[in-house]
Amino acid sequence: MSESEKLTIALSKGRIFKETLPLLAYAGIEPVDDPETSRKLILDTNQPDVKLVIIRASDVPTYVQYGAADLGVAGKDVLMEHGGEGLYEPLDLRIARCKLMVAGREPRPGQAQRLRIATKYVNSTRRYFADQGQQVEVIKLYGSMELAPLVGLSDLIVDVVDTGNTLKANGLKPLEKIADISSRLVVNKASMKRKHARVRAFIDQLAEAVRKQQEEAA
Ligand code: ATP
Ligand code: PRP
Repeated sequence: MSESEKLTIALSKGRIFKETLPLLAYAGIEPVDDPETSRKLILDTNQPDVKLVIIRASDVPTYVQYGAADLGVAGKDVLMEHGGEGLYEPLDLRIARCKLMVAGREPRPGQAQRLRIATKYVNSTRRYFADQGQQVEVIKLYGSMELAPLVGLSDLIVDVVDTGNTLKANGLKPLEKIADISSRLVVNKASMKRKHARVRAFIDQLAEAVRKQQEEAA
């Protein structure tokens, strides 16, 4: 098999893997192992020319940018934070949908001092508040952002919100929407050139799968 026929696809465990699986199946790709039970980080599939690499959600753009994977699936939140260098983003898969939001206690804290915002999305947060002409202090966290306002670490948080249950359970409210989020297919720019026919065929199959899924959901 020539190198130009092989494809490596980067996925994260959990939500993205589960929701991408039916789309891959439509393209005739089925993993041989289940990443939730296997400790393997490279999964073979029923297609000898297609492998899946299982990595952290926020690492997907990096693997694809450097060509360690030809393709990947990443949330728009993660892509906004990464910046998209070295990547094409040809397809909205319309999975893992949520909103990137500013949240906090109600009433929204006053602005005697510079607001402190806790988030793992530091770049998107800086950009959002700068666009509003507001000077804020951004505190980088790696998770459980909802805790920060409860213990006085920050005034507000920026995080993804779906049902709003996590905010509610912690006495917080969604305040401002920064962006609608869904997961996107990303492609390494060099792979798009070198493996054009193979990559193009894969994108077209996934696009068709997304279209079918939307039709069925309607
Ligand atoms: P990492 O492991 O890098 O910290 P993560 O824990 O955020 O990432 P997931 O929870 O699997 O990874 O989320 C993957 C993507 O799914 C996110 O980037 C976001 O686009 C989307 N997402 C996150 N939370 C929700 C949610 N509650 N509902 C729907 N989509 C979500
Ligand atoms: C995400 C996010 C919020 C939560 C929002 O966390 O960081 O904490 O989901 O979803 P909600 O508005 O529906 O409550 P995580 O990936 O841990 O979510 P999960 O618990 O659904 O896996």
